[in-house]
Amino acid sequence: MPQLKVLAINGSPRAEGNTAHMLETVLGVCRAAGIETETVHVGGKPVRGCVACGACGAHIGRCATDDWVNELYPKMAAADAIILGSPTYFSDLTPELKAVIDRTGFIAGRDGKRFSRKVGAAVSAVRRAGGIHTLDSINHFFLINDMVVPGSSYWNMSLARELGDYERDAEGIRTMTRLGENVVWLLERLAK
Ligand SMILES: Cc1cc2nc3c(=O)[nH]c(=O)nc-3n(C[C@H](O)[C@H](O)[C@H](O)COP(=O)(O)O)c2cc1C
Repeated sequence: MPQLKVLAINGSPRAEGNTAHMLETVLGVCRAAGIETETVHVGGKPVRGCVACGACGAHIGRCATDDWVNELYPKMAAADAIILGSPTYFSDLTPELKAVIDRTGFIAGRDGKRFSRKVGAAVSAVRRAGGIHTLDSINHFFLINDMVVPGSSYWNMSLARELGDYERDAEGIRTMTRLGENVVWLLERLAK
C-alpha cells in the first residue's frame, strides 16, 4: 500500500486553540495507523479572496494572486485526505478558510479535478450555536469537488470557548477520535 497522507488545515488564528487540538486528535489516530500527517495554520494570514480572473485555467495548479495559497495547494493536491477545521465565527467559517475553499476549489477544478475522490472532513469549535452551519459550509466544498466524506458518532464539533475547553469536552474528544478512525478506515479501503 502506498504511504497515505492526511493534511489538516486550521482556519483559527489561534494555533493552539480548540480547533487545532480537535484536528490533532484526528491526526493522532491517523498517525497511530501509520499515516503521515501535517497541519497548516492559515488563520491570521492575509485574506485574499478569489478575484474571478480565470487565470487558473491558463496557469494550471496556480492562482494569479501569488501568496500562501499557492504554497498550500500542492500539499492539498498531494494529500489522500484533507481535514478542514474552523472555529465558528458568526455561525460560519473564518474568512481565511473561506479563501482557501474558493481559491483552491477553482485551482483544483482546472487542474484535472485534483481533489476528486480524496477523503474530506470538517471540524468546528463552537461556544454555543452555529457550528452545524459551519460544518455545512465546509462540506459543500468536499461535495462539489467529488470527494468522499466520512461521518462520526456525532456532528464534528466541540462545545468550547476558551483555550483548553476542548480538552474538557469528553463527547467532543470521542467524536474527533471516531472521526479519525473513520478517516483511517476509509483511506485504507480506498487504497486497496
Ligand atoms: C469573531 C468571533 C465570532 C464568534 N462567533 C461565534 C458564534 O457565532 N457562535 C458561537 O457559538 N461561538 C462563536 N465564537 C466563539 C468561538 O467559536 C469559540 O471561542 C471557539 O472555541 C474558538 O476556536 P479556536 O480556539 O480554535 O480559535 C466566536 C468567536 C469569535 C472570535
